[in-house]
Parts: sequence; C-alpha cells; structure tokens
Amino acid sequence: LALALVMILGVASAFADVKVAFSQIGQESDWRTANTDSINGAVKGHEGWELIYDDAQQKQENQIKALRNFITQGVDFILFTGVVETGWEEVLKEVNEAEIPLILIDRMPDCMDKIEYAAAFGGDFVEEGRRQVAWAGEYLKSIGRGEEEVNVAIMEGTTGAGAQVGRTKGNLAAMEAYPNLKLVAQNTGNFTRAEGQALMESWLKSVDKIDVLIAQNDDMALGAIDAIKGAGLVPGKDIIIVGCDSVKAAFDAIVAGEMNATIECTPLYGPFVVDAIEKLIAGEDLGKELIHPVEGVYDIDGGIDCGNGAVSVKAADVINERQY
Ligand code: AHR
Repeated sequence: LALALVMILGVASAFADVKVAFSQIGQESDWRTANTDSINGAVKGHEGWELIYDDAQQKQENQIKALRNFITQGVDFILFTGVVETGWEEVLKEVNEAEIPLILIDRMPDCMDKIEYAAAFGGDFVEEGRRQVAWAGEYLKSIGRGEEEVNVAIMEGTTGAGAQVGRTKGNLAAMEAYPNLKLVAQNTGNFTRAEGQALMESWLKSVDKIDVLIAQNDDMALGAIDAIKGAGLVPGKDIIIVGCDSVKAAFDAIVAGEMNATIECTPLYGPFVVDAIEKLIAGEDLGKELIHPVEGVYDIDGGIDCGNGAVSVKAADVINERQY
C-alpha cells in the first residue's frame, strides 16, 4: 500500500508543473491562521500547482533559511511576508538572481525599491492605525466626551514588523488631531493574545488610569479583555477598546459589548495570489504598485465617521459572513 501511495504521489507531483513556495511568518494570531489557510488553500486548490510551505515560527533566520531552500529546490514562484521590515535585501537579491518571481504579501520589506518583485498585496497599516485613533476620538465626541481629557494606551504588535511600524505611525499621527487624547502607555504585546493579556495586567497595576486601549490587533485586544475582567473592570465600558484585523472573535466581543470597534485588515490574499500567478504565467506585467484591498470599520452601532471615506458598520450586520 505504501509503495502504491508513493507511486501515486510521484505521478501526481510529476503533473504539478508550477511549484509555488510560501514563506509564512508563523501562527501568532487568528488573522495569521486565516491568512495561511487562504493562501495555502488557493494554491493547493489550483490544478497543476504544488505548494511548498514554510512556517518560520516568528524567526527571521528561519525565513532566510526557507528562502534559500526554495531557491535550491528551483521553485517557480515565491510568496513572501517578512516578520520584520529590515534585513531582507541580501536574501531577496539572491531570489532575484535565481530569477524566481517574488510576490510580496502583507508585510512589506523596507528594501522594496532595491529588489525586483512581480506583485505586492498588503494592508495599509498607517491608515489602519489612523482609523483606530480616529474611531476612538469620534466615538468619544458622539457620547459627549470630546472635550474630556482621556488616557490612551497603545498596545503595539511585534516590534519592527511592518504592521507595528505603520500602525504606530498612524496611531500617533491621529492623536494630534484629537488633543483631548493623552498617551499614557505604549508597549508591545507581540500580536499575541497571551502577551496582550500580560501587558494589560501589568499596565493595570502600573498606570493610574486607562480610558482607551488601542490594540494593534484583535488577539491582543481579546487578551486585554481577559486582563480587564480579571481586575474587576468592565471591558468596553470602563475601558474603550479598539482592535485591528476584524476577526470573528472580535465581532463576538463587540456584539457582547466587551470590545468597541475593530478596524479591518483582510488576511484573505489567496485569490489575489492565484490571479497574480495566472497573469504572470500568461506573460502579463503587474507593475510595482502595492495593492491594498478595500477594508472596513466595525462597531456596535455603526455610523462613526473615521475620515478618508471610512464609516463604521454594525458588527452584528456582518458577523454571520465572517469565516475566520
Ligand atoms: O501583518 C498583519 C498583522 O499580523 C495582523 O494584524 C496581525 O494579527 C498579524 O499577526
């Protein structure tokens, strides 16, 4: 039986005329799991395509090793998202020298202008961070607290990750537009639920008062909710909580009144990747433009205008459509 299986797999892989390799960061959040499932599912589901997948477990050195392995294996396309922004130029130039088309996803490397890439799809992290704070500022105005001095804590993602760098930039820039918001705490929760909980527990002991928590992803917001409850406070009321990603667990928390809003950052890049590879195989040039999928803002009542055309939608109206 084993021999038969080996033969069948051998024949199947002989038909796989396109080898698509994907270097993924790890599995730190619900968003990341959905991202992996979307891309891996789309590639594996495509007739004649073989997926070679590597999970780097949040380590840059593992990603560099994986990229070099992909080159050695002679794959046809490389999909790449980097755990941090810096330190990729050398290995990505090796990918270029091997003439393997590179598709950048999610977190962009800071050397984009020094390397060749065939397509790029990622979130607009600065805008997401701006929307987080704008949502809080506008919501406070809507409940008559627009003039009140309000203490804000910013829970950041993995230090040096594109999503952390961009969202922090957007968070801080938007704070300037709402002078009543006062930054009282800022640290990393590493994009995980456990570290979000631990950081919130430590803030609740060391910071006098937190009125608003800006968590740069939903997993950290959900961890913080556990910490807030553990301290005998009411999440969503005693502390206003704005997350980012818009995963199903955040929608549940919003509908339960424990979280106030989430800014969307779609993880569903599978269809974009398949479309890009098909076009590249057909000889199309996709250009250098970084494509940002359209993204929303979700909260309990809807109607908060965050600027730049982003008006919040009621979480309860879309919760059933959310798959991840
Ligand atoms: O790069 C996207 C970010 O990474 C998501 O916001 C976060 O949940 C993930 O881990």
